Amino acid sequence: MRKQNNNEMEKRYIEVKNLTIERTQTPKSKPEKGQKLGFGSVFTDHMLLMNYDVGQGWHDARIVPFGPITMSPAATCLHYAQETFEGLKAYRAEDGRVLLFRPEENFKRMNRSNERMCIPQLDVDFCIESLKELVLLEKEWIPTDAEASLYLRPMVIGVESRLGVKDADSYLYMVLCSPSGPYYANGLKPVPIYVEEKYVRAVRGGTGDAKTGGNYAASMRAQHIAHECGYSQVLWLDGVEKKYVGEVGAMNIFFVVDGEVLTPELDGSILPGITRMSVIELLRREGYKVTERKITIQEIADASDAGKLQEVFGTGTAAVISPVGHLKWGDKVMTINNEEIGPISMHLYQELTGIQWGRIQGPEGWSMEIGRM
Ligand code: PLP
Ligand code: COI
Repeated sequence: MRKQNNNEMEKRYIEVKNLTIERTQTPKSKPEKGQKLGFGSVFTDHMLLMNYDVGQGWHDARIVPFGPITMSPAATCLHYAQETFEGLKAYRAEDGRVLLFRPEENFKRMNRSNERMCIPQLDVDFCIESLKELVLLEKEWIPTDAEASLYLRPMVIGVESRLGVKDADSYLYMVLCSPSGPYYANGLKPVPIYVEEKYVRAVRGGTGDAKTGGNYAASMRAQHIAHECGYSQVLWLDGVEKKYVGEVGAMNIFFVVDGEVLTPELDGSILPGITRMSVIELLRREGYKVTERKITIQEIADASDAGKLQEVFGTGTAAVISPVGHLKWGDKVMTINNEEIGPISMHLYQELTGIQWGRIQGPEGWSMEIGRM
């Protein structure tokens, strides 16, 4: 990468011992047990920041009190959306362990997103080590309520002050922590999903497989309309023929058709979800037939007509396992499993959350214990 000659590469490997911590003098009161948290609207006392400048690499990693940041109104992220982000969670196990779920996968994906958006690579080990420091500092914020956790939002933004369209010379890496409840207000209740036929989210060769804000900006209009019609999210079809199923606004999608689990293949236009990858592995270990391939929306409608569409569910860090109650495609409404949670969705939910909260031993390396309460 042009920005990173060997000297710069060396400089970006900041050791965690160089992470400075400035504690807040005005700690906020934490949400009460049982308080409805919603998703992503409460923030903890601290956040992590680190700068990048050409010629210097990543530098000045610091944990500071949570609060506004300043940047030039000409910062490249504000004009040209040069930005990437991630989403993962810290869980409080019943025995007091503080756990992360496959965090290295998030930072590896962040680096793939960064490459796509011409943002400098991060050191995965440093990101994990500094994240641990932040989470342990904020551990009292990890909710104790069932289904609630500390949502972690790493992000990188281009902050160089310049209006020319060019990748920035300066970046800011940040991690925010937000105690959060279920992503959907009704928890595990099956959600209604609207199959979007007018707007498209991504095309192959675009940025659909990167976790970058522009993808979500492009999805707002369709999602707004779907919300107004009573739908939780939209199911995106491919951007060229509007024929193949892609993914949902904030999750990957799975169908159970006649006993076989189907999910769209990673064709470059959808996000390679970490929950998706984990669910595929869990199901295959248990002997389910799981197929990743192109899936037309027509074949899903045909399976529904033939009574073979047994379950539909979404997967995501925020959404966990989200059963779909019905899909609306044009005039057609496909009701799934009588709007009830199907057995595979329920089993996966219990298995995955069991591993994440440390109740079940998952595959080697999935659960990272970072400390204790
Ligand atoms: N697809 C989109 C568009 C998402 O925003 C997310 C959430 O991160 C996912 C899929 C699921 O990805 P993951 O399981 O890694 O959270
Ligand atoms: C996540 O599941 O972590 C996400 O990033 C989804 C988000 C867009 C709310």
